[in-house]
Amino acid sequence: MKKGLLIGFTKWQTECAYKIYSEYFAKHNIKLDLLQIDEYVLAIDNGKPSLNVDEFDFCIMLVKDQYISTLFEKQGKLCFNTYKAMSSSDDKFLTFVKLAENNIPLPKTLSGNTDFDGLNLAEYKRSEEFKNKVEAYLGYPFVAKPTFGYGGKGVTIINNRNEFDSFIKNIGQEAYLYQEFIHDNPGIDIRVMVVGGKVIFSIMRKNSNSFISNVSSGGCAIKFEATQEQKQIAIKVTKILGLEHCAVDFFNTEDGKPLLCEVNANAGGIEINEQLTGINQAEKFVGYIIKKVYKQ
Ligand SMILES: Nc1ncnc2c1ncn2[C@@H]1O[C@H](COP(=O)(O)OP(=O)(O)O)[C@@H](O)[C@H]1O
Ligand SMILES: [Mg+2]
Repeated sequence: MKKGLLIGFTKWQTECAYKIYSEYFAKHNIKLDLLQIDEYVLAIDNGKPSLNVDEFDFCIMLVKDQYISTLFEKQGKLCFNTYKAMSSSDDKFLTFVKLAENNIPLPKTLSGNTDFDGLNLAEYKRSEEFKNKVEAYLGYPFVAKPTFGYGGKGVTIINNRNEFDSFIKNIGQEAYLYQEFIHDNPGIDIRVMVVGGKVIFSIMRKNSNSFISNVSSGGCAIKFEATQEQKQIAIKVTKILGLEHCAVDFFNTEDGKPLLCEVNANAGGIEINEQLTGINQAEKFVGYIIKKVYKQ
């Protein structure tokens, strides 16, 4: 029997996606099993992993898990997305390091607080000397955001030295980056959804009450067609990062020129996006996986 495994984290993330994906696979006589990593303990016992991947032909990762990815990849089985590609987009600064020097328009961005505490680096990243450097590079206002953030959580505008001082005092150990504030159309971003190197749709997200456009932070998704240039850049980004299913987000610049905000390996909102665009990203993704795994 043809069979795949969906890896998710929490019922909230997993339940709805599993229902949609498993129905599309069933139409092609492919069974999809579910593994929720927060309810499962992966063990190596007697030299064997507790998860036997022999019976699965592929794996869909809604959440990054290098151990499960490695079990699949060790056997030459495909993971969508690969662990490596997901890591490149999970870390917003690593995304920019990988994309730099490829003619991708990127906002000026500095690596800030890191979770690496070698050589007192964390202490330096809190020092007056470092703050002076950030100020000189970016000027005020600038944006601080968690390097591994999502849903707009922790994205903060910093308007002056006082705010910067108290921000630094309160950030704890979390990794943060600093970025120039993009003044054009705050609270709006443009999302281009790419599956298997093809744009399947684009939308806009708009928040009238905040500069953070994420739907989970109060934004709403609306119909929008990205420019050809934005679509071409989005495709290029996914190729460089090796992502087969992802959302590439752009700022909404005054002149319409592409300016990358960030890349999401696992963008949700499948149902809302379908209502707006008539296109179901899960169906497109399933079609792509079947073609690649079973050469159908
Ligand atoms: N440099 C910036 N200038 C202006 N607005 C920004 C900037 N960075 C992020 N935003 C706003 O905040 C939102 C969330 O930031 P983003 O980098 O996408 O992180 P997340 O992973 O939390 O979605 C963006 O969609 C955008 O609306
Ligand atoms: Mg975002």
